Amino acid sequence: MDLGGSPGQQVRAAGPGTVHFAGTVAGTGVVSIAHPNGLLTTYQPVTTTVSAGQQLSTGDPIGTLDPGHEGCPAPACLHWGLRRGRTYLDPLALLNRARVRLLPPTRLTATHTTVPSAQPLPAATTASAQTVRLHTLTSTNGERAVERTHAAPRTAVVWAVLRAELERRGGEKLTIVDVGGGTGGFAVPLAEAGHSVTVVDASPDALAALTRRAAEAGVAERITGVQGDADRLADLVPDGGVDLILCHSVLEFVDDPEAVVSDLADALRPGGAASVLVANRAAAALARAIAGQLPAALATFTDPGGRSGPKDTLLRRFDADSASSLLSAAGLAVEQLHGVRVATDLVPGALLDSEPGAYDALLRFELATAAVPPYRDIATQLHFLARKS
Ligand SMILES: C[S@@+](CC[C@H](N)C(=O)[O-])C[C@H]1O[C@@H](n2cnc3c(N)ncnc32)[C@H](O)[C@@H]1O
Repeated sequence: MDLGGSPGQQVRAAGPGTVHFAGTVAGTGVVSIAHPNGLLTTYQPVTTTVSAGQQLSTGDPIGTLDPGHEGCPAPACLHWGLRRGRTYLDPLALLNRARVRLLPPTRLTATHTTVPSAQPLPAATTASAQTVRLHTLTSTNGERAVERTHAAPRTAVVWAVLRAELERRGGEKLTIVDVGGGTGGFAVPLAEAGHSVTVVDASPDALAALTRRAAEAGVAERITGVQGDADRLADLVPDGGVDLILCHSVLEFVDDPEAVVSDLADALRPGGAASVLVANRAAAALARAIAGQLPAALATFTDPGGRSGPKDTLLRRFDADSASSLLSAAGLAVEQLHGVRVATDLVPGALLDSEPGAYDALLRFELATAAVPPYRDIATQLHFLARKS
């Protein structure tokens, strides 16, 4: 279950128990609490303030909420889980009549589906280095309209760039690799459009979800999940045969980003493109300042890796220059740079829920501003399309 919140908000124990695990898993801060009745509650992404074995009472602070949970439409979301052994249960069962602010079900549903779910990818947008234009926002299909209006602002700019790249290839069926592709938010729609996609991800849970999602979409035969470390990409993906390689929100976690980007370049065939999405240091510093975490904001600004401190769940953040240099050094020529989520993480979720047309307006704003400094430069993420010559 995803609970909407704000970065830095205190996360508390749902009940008495013992800290079972407190640390990071693939770069995400995770806490789990074993309760006396045999249940285990899990909390992520959090910067934890507790350690394994610590006794807790109901409501004890266990850490602070981090931004960046996949699919989160709010400035930050707590993914709250409940298990008995290996069986996943609905944590709502624990709430009884407790008051809790939940994201409306429609938004949760939307964020767990994908925006461009039609086959083939709808050519709703085109992108160039200078501008990202939106041709149409309306949909005659109610369900698709919900998906698009609710989920699109977070990913619309990246999809616009990818669609343009696919159109450039004139309908050719491509060999695509998605490094750290997680549960297939990009891989499944790309496979639906007829491309062959290999997802390399460190998380078996993510790959299990990918397999389910691919089967549900009827594209299992076009998606291959490979469990592995991006730092060992060269061993997992053959050199020189890939048309398009995605590396979205992964370089923040790997041991050696230079080596990973070099492997991305090696995997591409000449003329192939890399779609690289990274966390923007400027946005993270501003988000912390707005949340009142001023020492962390200053640290994010001054730290060479853009980290807020030793408990930061990301190993590094990037600036336009640092990421461009990384790509260039690997022989990838940056053709396009866009800001992703210029305003999406700043707009109050309640407003988007209550104000008719707010999602469409936000989508238009994201697409209009993505390529334009200074808006581009304060977006939560920076997206690069870089080509191998
Ligand atoms: C923030 S998610 C991004 C998922 C997806 N790329 C997207 O943009 O929606 C990061 C993903 O990278 C994976 N990951 C993190 N570190 C990794 C590593 N060293 N090697 C491979 N995958 C990794 C995680 O398991 C997770 O699925």
